[in-house]
Amino acid sequence: MTRSAIVTGASGGVGRAMVARLAARGWQLIVTSRRAEHLAAAFGDQHLQVVADCSTPAGARQILQAARDHRMQPTALAHCVGNIRLGAMHRMSEADFNDCLSANLISTFHTLAAFVGALREARSPGAAVLVSSAAARIGTPNHEAVAAAKAGLEGMVRGAAATYAANAIRINAVAPGIMETPASAGVIASPAAREGAARQYPLPGIGSPDELAELMVWLLSDAAARVTGQVWSLDGGFSSIRPLVK
Ligand SMILES: NC(=O)c1ccc[n+]([C@@H]2O[C@H](COP(=O)([O-])OP(=O)(O)OC[C@H]3O[C@@H](n4cnc5c(N)ncnc54)[C@H](OP(=O)(O)O)[C@@H]3O)[C@@H](O)[C@H]2O)c1
Repeated sequence: MTRSAIVTGASGGVGRAMVARLAARGWQLIVTSRRAEHLAAAFGDQHLQVVADCSTPAGARQILQAARDHRMQPTALAHCVGNIRLGAMHRMSEADFNDCLSANLISTFHTLAAFVGALREARSPGAAVLVSSAAARIGTPNHEAVAAAKAGLEGMVRGAAATYAANAIRINAVAPGIMETPASAGVIASPAAREGAARQYPLPGIGSPDELAELMVWLLSDAAARVTGQVWSLDGGFSSIRPLVK
């Protein structure tokens, strides 16, 4: 039987990389976005395209319902929704802070809840992979809002993994450093900003969504059958090592 997977934020940099990899491995895909034209631009008429805002419980449930309507029972979730709202907290507007929490934390809660709810109803095992950030793991200037949202996500991974282990549902996350995607375009717009960003990393450079997707696909695969409740860094050493300064 063909396995099916949900990719949220599918129109974004990481989402597209996930869709390409999962499709190449034979997964049937449910791809979601808030805007139909984003999905059409990314995927033409391929995949089951669901327009929903998964930062609300109703929007998240709508994705699972659309899958059911098409006789699909997704056993994998790659939640790739998120945004980057940078700025010192004393200058950040309430709207920006709320938008950051909504995209990075609240959407994750509702989407994961709808996914595990459907799996439990079907008495099916499954796996989810979420996306955190290096900023949740080490203090980084001007990342207060996103650090708060992603640290919440990391706590959710451990809690939910504990709750659903008995149902054979695995829940993990990845924590990347900066990557070349639409979300980071503003941060690395000029050559100087790009070089400056790349130099922050012990292994210097800007990451690619493809290398992150490779790790995410592995976490969803049977090869990771005994991995749950983990957050895997992919950040050139940024959050864990401090090289000798010469
Ligand atoms: N790029 C980086 O440097 C970087 C670094 C660390 C972590 N991350 C994380 O990686 C994940 C993927 O990001 P990306 O770089 O692929 O970003 P991206 O290219 O901007 O894609 C993210 C997608 O999420 C959807 N989205 C944004 N805000 C939303 C909201 N409030 N509600 C529902 N959907 C929303 C958007 O799709 P629609 O507009 O089509 O709905 C967007 O295309 C995010 O969780 C991000 O925080 C990225």
